[in-house]
Amino acid sequence: MQPQFITIEGGEGVGKTTNLQLIESLLKQNRIDFIVTREPGGTPFAEEIRELLLNKRQEAVDPVAELLLVFAARKQHVEQTIKPALASGQWVVCDRFTDATFAYQGGGRELGFELIEQINQLALAGFKPNKTLLLDVDPDIGMQRAAKRSELDRFESEQMAFFERVRAAYRQRASDDAERFMVVDAGQDLVNVQTDITTVFQEYIDGVTHD
Ligand code: TMP
Repeated sequence: MQPQFITIEGGEGVGKTTNLQLIESLLKQNRIDFIVTREPGGTPFAEEIRELLLNKRQEAVDPVAELLLVFAARKQHVEQTIKPALASGQWVVCDRFTDATFAYQGGGRELGFELIEQINQLALAGFKPNKTLLLDVDPDIGMQRAAKRSELDRFESEQMAFFERVRAAYRQRASDDAERFMVVDAGQDLVNVQTDITTVFQEYIDGVTHD
């Protein structure tokens, strides 16, 4: 059985943290050895880049500068954490990955997909997740949830139009690569969201482990 690289994606307030815990418990029930990590971050160096990216600041951050930092962190994370875990036979569950760059920098910051694809090739040479769970919700609902949490970071402080573009870009990615994506409607009640995730995720695990 090939160890799998799984990512969880979605806009702000989609419930990634809660649903990540559900995925962890499903993997445990299936006796799968795995690590959980996140982006931006996942190594000490990449976590420092995360701080740079998320901290609110007076200076406007150039979107391409932001994009390059995201990929700097990702390259480090892939080489230091993700690939070694997969090579040792562990599955990797990652909270956000390159699809977030397509959504936030490509869509949100309006850099487009082509530039991101080029840098992605340069940095990662086609390395991508086996499966991606996209939690999809109307940004109006998502931002209401996110606003109830702690102080908003640099991304969360964006305008609603930014989050509409993020959502549209995520949905575009999902329809362009329907085989890799599992899309769940995260606007439903949590119980229903979790039922949906359990169904699609267990089906996926069964498919991989019974190959
Ligand atoms: P988090 O709050 O879900 O951990 O994500 C941190 C923020 O970083 C989130 O607002 C999305 C943003 N982000 C990007 O803009 N581009 C990326 O490639 C990644 C991974 C995250």
